[in-house]
Amino acid sequence: MAISYEKERRIIHLSINEEYSYYIHINKYNYLIHLYDGKYLSDISKERVSERYMERYSFLDINRSKNEEDYYETMDEDYYFSFLASQFECAPFMKGDKRGAHTIINNEIKDNIPITNFLYVSHEVIKGLPKDKNKNLPHVRFKDNEVETLIITLKEEYKDVILKLYYEVSEKYHCLVRYSKLVNNGEKEGIVVNKFSSMELDLNSCDYEILALKGTWSNDTEEERIPLNHSYTKISENHGARGFYYNSAVALIKNGTTLDNGEVYGFNILYSSDFAYEFKVDEIDQTRLTVSYNNETTEFFLNEKEELTSFETIQVFSCEGINKMSQIFHDLIRERVLGFSQNKDKYILVNSWEAYYFNFDTEKILKVIDKAKELNINLFVLDDGWFGHRNNDKSSLGDWFINKEKIDISRVVEYAKNKGMNVGLWVEPEMISPDSNLYKEHPEYALYPSFYEKPTLFRHQLVLDLTNDEVVERIFNDLTKVIDSLGISYVKWDFNRYLTETYSSHLPKEKRKETTYRFIMGTYKLLNKFTKRYPHILLESCAAGGGRFDLGLLYYSPQAWASDEMDISLRSGIQYSKNIFYPLRSIGAHVCERGSGSIQDKCCLAFFGTYGYELDILNISEEEKEKILFFNNLYQEFHDVIEYGDYYAIYNPYKCNYNAWNVVTKKKNLALVYFMIYRKEATKARFIKLKGLDKNKYYYNSLTNDIYKGDFYMNVGLNISAILTPYTSMMFVIKEIDAIKANIYRKTKQVDGGKRDKLV
Ligand code: GLA
Repeated sequence: MAISYEKERRIIHLSINEEYSYYIHINKYNYLIHLYDGKYLSDISKERVSERYMERYSFLDINRSKNEEDYYETMDEDYYFSFLASQFECAPFMKGDKRGAHTIINNEIKDNIPITNFLYVSHEVIKGLPKDKNKNLPHVRFKDNEVETLIITLKEEYKDVILKLYYEVSEKYHCLVRYSKLVNNGEKEGIVVNKFSSMELDLNSCDYEILALKGTWSNDTEEERIPLNHSYTKISENHGARGFYYNSAVALIKNGTTLDNGEVYGFNILYSSDFAYEFKVDEIDQTRLTVSYNNETTEFFLNEKEELTSFETIQVFSCEGINKMSQIFHDLIRERVLGFSQNKDKYILVNSWEAYYFNFDTEKILKVIDKAKELNINLFVLDDGWFGHRNNDKSSLGDWFINKEKIDISRVVEYAKNKGMNVGLWVEPEMISPDSNLYKEHPEYALYPSFYEKPTLFRHQLVLDLTNDEVVERIFNDLTKVIDSLGISYVKWDFNRYLTETYSSHLPKEKRKETTYRFIMGTYKLLNKFTKRYPHILLESCAAGGGRFDLGLLYYSPQAWASDEMDISLRSGIQYSKNIFYPLRSIGAHVCERGSGSIQDKCCLAFFGTYGYELDILNISEEEKEKILFFNNLYQEFHDVIEYGDYYAIYNPYKCNYNAWNVVTKKKNLALVYFMIYRKEATKARFIKLKGLDKNKYYYNSLTNDIYKGDFYMNVGLNISAILTPYTSMMFVIKEIDAIKANIYRKTKQVDGGKRDKLV
């Protein structure tokens, strides 16, 4: 049982596979006390846990025995409770605790006093998902038999407002999924919600550092380590619909933890707009984390009887280092978060953008399709520039009709189909260009206050007001007209600017500070309609240009173009960082011309993502053609390993001169290894130790063309001293071979009729 309740002591225990425990105590003042979380504990003493730090914060008469719990008459004297030192599940605002509240609400009209003190009313434990779960929001798609849910109901002390805390506990997926719901039960004047958290986690030490992914355009997500200290740390976004600043995935790493040992907490949210992870270390070195909407840009107003459910936060705990956390995230996201397409074809795509930008016509594209066919590529994607009168980035967003003077897409699709190939299109549905028919017709569809004369442009474009359902409908109808007429198989959904002046005139005055939230809800509506209508279309969202790579979007589109950075040295760091939290099959990766590195280097790296090309394939050398054919064959043979295997980082490129990882099938019969060296090094003995193999199995490796046992690969490793050419990347294959063949090979060096060629 993942959730149990001990009535007498009022203790709730959430546990995962006897590996992890999370204890909550409902104390006698009806505060939810976070007693413990970490490695599994079969039982807990609530007194002992609090005693060690309460001593100094209680005003108990020292002549009285501290064990007579019932003796205390006031909280002030209580030896086991202190606003300064206790750990909470839902910390109050403007009571004794000043370490950052879970939620802050205010009735500005009635009294304008935002003191917020939610107290326990009741709780229930449910097998499966809660009945009232809002499935219209991105959520972890647990099946009922994979989860138990704890729902705790609290009520604000003086306001008629209810808060519910949800904890979905999944032993199958080794994680908690947490969220909250606010209900304005009876505040007639309505309440302002100044802060609203999805979850709070109070830890009894500050012995951690934060691992966050920061970035900018073309340098998207890079691992950043931030020490926790007594100043307040906020990892957040305020760009409206995710920018590059910080990704929404964050880990808290216990000092001394490595890739394979030690404790780490991982968090990620299913939301694509402004969020905040706020870390506060208190005066006795405990840490509070709240994960909330970023109240710098987002505030809510709830009318009487209105309710608001927060985004979901996934919480993962590993005591086997960062790799274990990555694996938990990867399995969960791959199986229960990613959007899916009914189309099970394995696509290797070629996209027009990097090769031709806006400069293409029908004849050129037909030639590209011919060439793609020759190269065993099966999907051609026409990127930006096919609609309205768009020949540069200054116009036409919002005009979703084909520019027939420039390109005959029906002919392209027909031509491709006859060759057994598929076609995809680029769109940017949430945007509007001032130079567009749509803007002329409906200037009020753009998102900025109506009296603004000069809204901020970015890449010459504005954002649509998707808080307005009429706009959502209009864009959906325009897109479906064009898509229905073509019969395409793939759509790239781009988002190339962030939000400014995010106050919609369409919303009532009191709800304008909800615009960031309502904009993204409009986007989700549009995506919902789109994916329902086109279940066979593979949808890829796009992070470059706007930096939007998150679980909110991945909930609809199973993959996202990861970065416009093409240089292998930078891109390998970006992929390494994304791999920490996101399954490799969600990471859009192509082989492009720009940036340093040979085609082979780039193929090796892109192989560990969705794989595809953005090259001018009409102008490649014979040698490059061969490489492409070679990798495309490899893709058909081995790409399942990347899609479904277990990922292990071997070297962290932000800490050393190498980048390496390997991915192993669940059966442990096949592994693919990626390796990259950044700077030239003096010749030294260097070994790369693989991870996750079966120590007793024999494996052939394509690096040294040899056969060893799993424990040899993992404990001795492969000697890479001779291949340390700086700025190169490589991949190699590790393949199980049966013991009899392995022994023959060892004696004769003959296997499968002869010595196998080195793979890559
Ligand atoms: C973004 C994407 C590119 C391309 C352009 C088109 O920058 O990352 O791949 O689609 O938009 O304008």
